[in-house]
This record gives sequence, structure tokens and C-alpha cells, in this order.
Amino acid sequence: MKSGSFSENLKKQLDSVKDIEGFPRAEVDDILYLSEPPSYTACPNPFIKDFIKKYGNPYDSINDTYKRDPFIKDIREGKHHPIYLAHTYHTKVPHQAVQKFIEYYTNPGDIIFDGFCGTGMVGIAATLSNREAIISEISPFATFIANNFLNSLYPEEFMKIFEEILCDVREECDWMYKTNHTNKAINTRTKKYANYIKAFEKIGKINYIVWNDVYECPYCYNEICFGETPNERKPGEKYDQFNCPYCDSIVNERKAKKVMFQKYDDILNDSIDVVKDKPILISYSVGKSNFWKKPDEFDFHLIEKTEGINIPYWIPNKRMPKGRSTTQALKSHNITYVHQYFTKRNLYVICKFLDLCKKRNFKIWFLISSLLQKASKLMALNKDYIGRVTKGTLYVSSTRQEINIFYFLNKNIASFKQSLEILKHSKKFIISTQSATDLSNIPSNSIDYIFTDPPFGGNIMYSELNFIWEAFLRVFTNNEHEAIENKVQGKSLQDYTKLMERCFVEMFRILKPNRWITIEFHNSKASVWNSIQTAIKNAGFVISLVSVLDKKVGSFKQITTANSVKNDLIINAFKPKNETPSQILKSADLSLDIQFLREQLKSLPIQPMVSRTDKMLFSKMLAHYIENGFEITSNSTGFYKILNENFVELDGYWFIREQIQIYKKLKAEIRDN
Ligand SMILES: C[S@@+](CC[C@H](N)C(=O)[O-])C[C@H]1O[C@@H](n2cnc3c(N)ncnc32)[C@H](O)[C@@H]1O
Repeated sequence: MKSGSFSENLKKQLDSVKDIEGFPRAEVDDILYLSEPPSYTACPNPFIKDFIKKYGNPYDSINDTYKRDPFIKDIREGKHHPIYLAHTYHTKVPHQAVQKFIEYYTNPGDIIFDGFCGTGMVGIAATLSNREAIISEISPFATFIANNFLNSLYPEEFMKIFEEILCDVREECDWMYKTNHTNKAINTRTKKYANYIKAFEKIGKINYIVWNDVYECPYCYNEICFGETPNERKPGEKYDQFNCPYCDSIVNERKAKKVMFQKYDDILNDSIDVVKDKPILISYSVGKSNFWKKPDEFDFHLIEKTEGINIPYWIPNKRMPKGRSTTQALKSHNITYVHQYFTKRNLYVICKFLDLCKKRNFKIWFLISSLLQKASKLMALNKDYIGRVTKGTLYVSSTRQEINIFYFLNKNIASFKQSLEILKHSKKFIISTQSATDLSNIPSNSIDYIFTDPPFGGNIMYSELNFIWEAFLRVFTNNEHEAIENKVQGKSLQDYTKLMERCFVEMFRILKPNRWITIEFHNSKASVWNSIQTAIKNAGFVISLVSVLDKKVGSFKQITTANSVKNDLIINAFKPKNETPSQILKSADLSLDIQFLREQLKSLPIQPMVSRTDKMLFSKMLAHYIENGFEITSNSTGFYKILNENFVELDGYWFIREQIQIYKKLKAEIRDN
């Protein structure tokens, strides 16, 4: 436990918050270790009332003059900001988009709340706009990240401690990422063999190693590992079927069995069945040049050595929870424990970092944890030779990239430094770890504005995905009230709706009357949209305007490629001064969909533009229905059917039939000029 009177005080006050829903699953000492009271607690925060007393303006129903119309703008915000890039999360709102809403709906000094704060982007937006932030969330990992964004060390101090830790880890572990430079390697830039090797260039630094799973041919029973044979395909290249290199039979890739073998797991002290895999390619650098080579005797020997190594540091020996996402790696690779998501080499380096962060300054773990996913077996290698983690899943590919953690830390450091630099101003905020179904530690009518980005039905299983990260923190999400659809947790769409409704009821209670809530949601199923509308309305909010957030990445290619548009909907609702009865959804039918699309396309200029893309049209239609209290009947698949049957598509943009000739003429004119 950290020293200081607030830590002592938190310990004393734990009893007063232990029954608040979402109190994490952990030992008390681990919760206290993670917390930095009063501004951050890895459990429901008992200091929020004091924060509001100090910084808030009490609601005065008689003299209150606040008045705002809804914020009428579709927002476009890129994801290239260093703060967005510094630490990954399954879904994130760009903080610059949130700032626009905060600055419109509130005044400096007002209190902003987000009950599903994830990595704290709303807190960042509020404090950058000179407002006070109260943010909470059910996942201790997410609040840990939020706290580290909002309450980090000064960049110089952070980098100094980080460099010292890095130096020590390197000293112990650098040998694990060494390889022989050979004239059989290919220079990745020139695509030529590295023919002349100077004496001092004999050793290269591994950037990453490509691993492939080994399959068994169902006809000749030989073991097949792509990348081993001379006629190999590119790593990451997938075919439905392939020819066995031994018997030439056609094998269906999906049906081919992976080769399993028994291996002693010294962390579990037990033998387990694992999928056989082999290193097939090494990317390494010598000086400033990068090379590819096939692994040789030296590399195989090194892998054997690192796989057999005993890790002398604390290791998270935790079984993954049963769930929808955790089943993926269980089925494909028999992965049941957290440590099995890592190669022994990377696990060693991570545990060494953890050990030193705990000894020197745990704030540095913020940076290391940003790399945990990439350093794990979740890092797939695609055929473009770029490694990627499939967002929102625990998918372990059959072709993986084992990264050199030092090399990737080096790549991450620039955006990290920049984000720390931007966030070094003084801030007024408080963070709590709890479920939004129970905000009993926040007084009624105390919040000036809410911006929130809730979970969307069964899209992402946050507590399962966060489990790996949380295992290193030793504090876990209490998923009893996690607002998701999840069969394993026994939560249907109805249960999700009820949980969301309870969250909105609490947010309604804490918001001052006549004030606004902005709710961001990702596009998906019609049924989920309807349940969200019902939940918002049943809580008492009045939906006033729905707009579109276009989370563009913003490169030229993306601006000119119709399919790259990705939208979220932004629901603007308010808490009426006098409660109004909840409204019942009106039903919309097919003819209304067609009529809406026709009107929409008719009103747009006849030229290539984002508003004519299918994704934007779908978002606009949903927005129109929610705003007008209609039940949504068509899912995105039904919507595409309507588009295809009634309208015309050219170059990824949609038109009514009468517009198509004008568009073609315009294109011809542009070409001729
Ligand atoms: C869409 S994410 C928010 C991401 C966030 N806007 C950001 O920028 O990082 C939704 C979050 O809701 C959290 N959550 C799920 N159920 C919850 C509940 N009952 N109470 C509070 N948070 C919950 C999830 O853990 C997840 O982090």
C-alpha cells in the first residue's frame, strides 16, 4: 500500500463503498496499491462528494438560467492524435471530438461526467477545455490507463525513469533478440542478398520472428508448415485449399488438423497439450539496414534456450474466464491461462519490466502495458508483412509475429512523449472504478453535462479482453453488472437493455435538470438500437437530435475511398425540468426507409462525397429514426438490400436513377479537362 493520509483514509473508507456495484475482484492490498487517492481509486471512489463540494456549483432550481439548443453538427475527427495512439483500447472516442461538445454545452469550471469512461478520453477532453471531470468505469485496467493519462509524471521525469528501467531490462534480456547476420539474408529495401558482411556486423538485432502453426496432411499424415518448403506462399497468405507438399493431395485448409503435442509448463507445473509451431522467418536489423532470413541453427538454439528459461519474477498465473472471446484461443490453440498468450521470451521481458516498475515507479507500467497485446500471440502477421491485433477479439492467428519488445517500444515512444507533453497542464479530475448501474457515491443534480460512449450489445466482451491486462495489475473487472450481451454470463439482449436502463436512470439522477447528455454509439443491429432508444427514454431523457461522428483516419486514400468511412451516431438528449412520461416507439416500415433515402439523395449535390456512401446513408437513416422516435426495422443487411433494389451505385457513391446521367457527365468533363 502506498503511504500517505489519503491511502490510509481510502483503506478506512473501503467498507462504505464495498457494496457499490462493480467493486472489482481483487485483494484489498492490490486495490490500494493501484489507487492514488483521492483522484484515482481502483474501486468505487469515496471522495467524489468532496470533489463536487469543492469544485461544483450547487443546482438552484429557481435561479438557474442555463439554456442551450442541441448541438447541430456532424463531427469528423481523425485518430492520428498522439493521445489516441499512445495507448490502445478496443474502442476509443477521439478526445478532440468530445471537446467540441463540451465547449458547446458547458462553461469553464463546469463538471463533466462519463460513466463508461474506458481510457478516459472524456476526462482528457474536459480538462483540456478547462472543465472538471468525474469519470468512472467498471474495468480497473481501463481506469488505470485513464489515471495515467490524466495524472502522469512530467515527461522528462517519466522518460528518465523509463530509460533507467529499460537499460536494466536490456542488460539482462538483450541476448534473447540476437541473430547471426548472414549473406543468405535479403535486404528488405534493395531486395538483394546481403553479400558482404563486415566483421563488426556479424550479429543482428531481431525486429520480429514469424511463427507458423504446423498442420497434418489428412492423406499422408506428414507435417506441413508453410514457409518451410522452397515453394512457400507469403506469410499470412490464406487459401481455402492447398496442395500437400509431400503427397500433392488437395487439402481444405479449414479442415486440416493442427499438430498437437504435450509440453511441460513450468509455470503450471503440469503437462499441457499445445499446438506445434515453427519459426519460419526472421526480420532483423544491422545498423540502419533491415533484413529477412530463414532461421538457422543459432536461432533454433536460442529459441530452445529462451523457451526453457526459468523466469525469476512474478508471473500472472491466472486461468482465463469462460466467455465468448476467450473461447477463440481455447478452440484454436488450447490456450487457457494468461501466460500462454506469450512466448516464454516475451513473457520473461514483460515480467522483468513489471518487477522493475514496481520497484522504481509503477507509472512506467502505463507505457509497457500499451505493448502487451502486440507482444502476445494475438499479434498476427498479414500478407502485407504488417503485424496486427484483431480489434475486440482474442483471436490467435496461425501465422504470428513475435515482436522484439525493445524494438517496438522504441517505435511507440514518440507518441507517448508527445501525449505526456500535451497533458502536463494541471487538471481537476476524479476517477472511480465501479458500474454505472450504481452511482450512489455521486449526489443527485450535481453534474453539468454527460458525454458517454457505452458498450454496444454483444459487440465487444470488455471484461474478457481486459483480463490479460488486468492479470498483470492483479485487479479484475467484476462483470456481474457489465452491460453486454453474453451467453456465458447469462445475459440476453433483454438483460443488456435492463442494465443499460439502470445506467441511464443513474445518469439521469446525477445530471442537473435542463442539462444535456450526449451518447455515442457504434452502428450495428436494429434490435440493439431499439433497446438503447427504449433505455434512454425510459430513464426519462428526451432525445432531441441525433448526428453522425465520422471517425476518419484522414489519409488521402481514405478520403477518396468510399468504403473507408466509419461512423458512430451521436445522440443528444436532455433531462427535462419536469419529468415527462416515457414515449413509446412508433413503427417504421419499408416504404419509409425508401422515402427517407430518396429525399436524402435528392438533396445532396451530384458529386462524389462521403454523404453518398452506404455507411453514411445508413447512419443518417438511423439518426433520423431515433430522433423521431421510430422503431428501427432494418439491419445493415436489410438496408443494403433496399439500397441495391431501389438506387444506383457508381464508384462507391449512391444516386437516384435520375441523377446518374448527370454524374456520368460530370465525370467525363473532369476527365476531359
Ligand atoms: C465503448 S467503451 C468506452 C471507451 C472510451 N470512450 C474510451 O475512449 O476509451 C465502453 C466501456 O464501458 C465499460 N462498461 C461495460 N459495462 C459497464 C458498466 N456496467 N458500468 C461501467 N462501465 C461499463 C467497458 O468496460 C468499456 O470500457
